[in-house]
Amino acid sequence: MDEKGHAFKGVFGGAGYDRWAKLFGMGFSFYRQAVGEVELPRSARVLDLGCGTGSLSIALAEKLHAGSEVHGIDISDDQLHYARTKARSRECVFRFYNSSMDELSFPDDHFDLVISSMALHETPPGVRRGAIREIERVLKKEGLFVLVDWSKPRFGLQAIVWLPFLFFGSWKDNWNNTYRALCSERNLLLEEDNYLNSLV
Ligand SMILES: C[S@@+](CC[C@H](N)C(=O)[O-])C[C@H]1O[C@@H](n2cnc3c(N)ncnc32)[C@H](O)[C@@H]1O
Repeated sequence: MDEKGHAFKGVFGGAGYDRWAKLFGMGFSFYRQAVGEVELPRSARVLDLGCGTGSLSIALAEKLHAGSEVHGIDISDDQLHYARTKARSRECVFRFYNSSMDELSFPDDHFDLVISSMALHETPPGVRRGAIREIERVLKKEGLFVLVDWSKPRFGLQAIVWLPFLFFGSWKDNWNNTYRALCSERNLLLEEDNYLNSLV
């Protein structure tokens, strides 16, 4: 991991990333489920933090009206390049940029929705804190932040598949309400908290 986080590249970036993700249960239905029941205004503006290959952005775009915009940021050019390829044939306006989630170049009160899946845990604590500060800044006052990330494992298929990996890395940082505490420091109020599977 470098100063800003773990940039996914080489065999773990682009098309390779999507193959690994599918193998570990994060195929299109996972992203569709992650987007859930989110409701957005016409001509919505959405930001996907740590967008990777754009799978979550693309799942979300299915629910958006024409004229909506989806902006994705990531620190890996390999991921962004593949995201642009995947998004090319879609109707929504997609824009992908190389940027770290704690240093956004968007104006204040700009987005209706900020989403992020499986990316915050790939950053060091200072970047996470900075990202939450930036989210609060760029979100409109009535805007929504949807965060999808590891949670404390419950018994189930996903937990069994991922079990060997739980002994490595610092995922536990994310289990014990770390995100909830960071969000409440920035007055982001919790509306709903759900498990998508036994680990996320
Ligand atoms: C596990 S992948 C998740 C990708 C995508 N959101 C998904 O759900 O498929 C984590 C992503 O976070 C990106 N990343 C890591 N640190 C970052 C940072 N500081 N700012 C933006 N992206 C970052 C990585 O390059 C990688 O694409």
